[in-house]
Amino acid sequence: MPESDLLQRQAPGSLMLTGFWYRALATDRVHRNRLHKAMLLEIPLVVGRDRVGHPFALRDACPHRGMPLHCGRFDGENVECSYHGWQFDAHNGQCQLIPSLTADQNVKVERIYAGSYPCEEQDGFIWVYIPDPGPPGAGFAKPEEAPEPAPQIEKFEESSSGKYKLAYLTSNMPVSIDHGIIGLMDPAHGPFVHQAWWWRSRHSIHEKTKNFEPIPNGFRMSAHTPSSNSAPYKLLRLYAAADSITTTIDFVLPNLRREIIRAGRYWFSSLTTVTPITRNHCRIDVVAAWNIFRWMPFGAELLKFVFAKFVEQDRRTMELQAEGLQHDPHLMLIDDADRPAKWYFQLKAAHLEAKRTGSEMKHPMSGPVTLKWRS
Ligand code: FES
Ligand SMILES: [Fe+2]
Repeated sequence: MPESDLLQRQAPGSLMLTGFWYRALATDRVHRNRLHKAMLLEIPLVVGRDRVGHPFALRDACPHRGMPLHCGRFDGENVECSYHGWQFDAHNGQCQLIPSLTADQNVKVERIYAGSYPCEEQDGFIWVYIPDPGPPGAGFAKPEEAPEPAPQIEKFEESSSGKYKLAYLTSNMPVSIDHGIIGLMDPAHGPFVHQAWWWRSRHSIHEKTKNFEPIPNGFRMSAHTPSSNSAPYKLLRLYAAADSITTTIDFVLPNLRREIIRAGRYWFSSLTTVTPITRNHCRIDVVAAWNIFRWMPFGAELLKFVFAKFVEQDRRTMELQAEGLQHDPHLMLIDDADRPAKWYFQLKAAHLEAKRTGSEMKHPMSGPVTLKWRS
């Protein structure tokens, strides 16, 4: 293998992909008749819930003179700008009232829009669809429709059954979306970053073989009996024979990591997202659903504790990494441990190319691949 393949020098860009749903805020932080600030892809947003609890998201800048709308008033239906009192429908952004107009002035109020974004509540988060930037026409752009509903966590019971639990964890990372994502899919940092006496030490490092396959817009670590590094795995062994436990981990553009673990009739399912806030700041949200440990008084707390510990170790690492990245060092991706990171960059490039040319996306993987590394 040529040296250039072995040590491929690559500096992650920080391009943030539009045309996708992103998690904006945890639903328990968004209250009725109140306005909340959020930011996605460097777009300032004001997020809220109307009188009956339906969420909405508007661009947090009045189309009149740019006043942040979150400073205004909200009556459960219309948002009123705090500068000159223009009012906008919270859901579609259409202007309803310009108080300064006299009866004989015929400004077409209904043609003015505060930018609004498709918005959905799903598994504990308010999701906002960020469309591709349209032609400039600020103030008169009607709201876009999302081409598909927001992503959901896969669950293996009726939501009405009450037989599963849902919890989330969130953490801010001072690095670009690309470093956030490749950090999330990186298998080699485990023994060094995630050490704990009750978990594993760096001496537990050993060779691993994993099978990957292409899936639409991403790749899958195929169903297998997980190695002992998987977070809820040690606890799952209490429920089922080790060889009946299977797990799949999918990565799908722009930022989704799905992990599903099944052990007999018990399951654990998570959807982790890395959300670009600005070009050098992202946020990791882990949302998990499970039907295990329900009888165990501290099961959920224990699971959350383990995850919180991991996420905090990652956050601390990325905080330190950001220090090093300030000076724009050359970076490298090596085989096989960084191959998923390479696929991510290739998928992103293929997606952008397909968009540019209007042709179908050419998947960078032509079939199943086996990777080996020590971790
Ligand atoms: S800036 Fe909002 S009403 Fe004038
Ligand atoms: Fe990690």
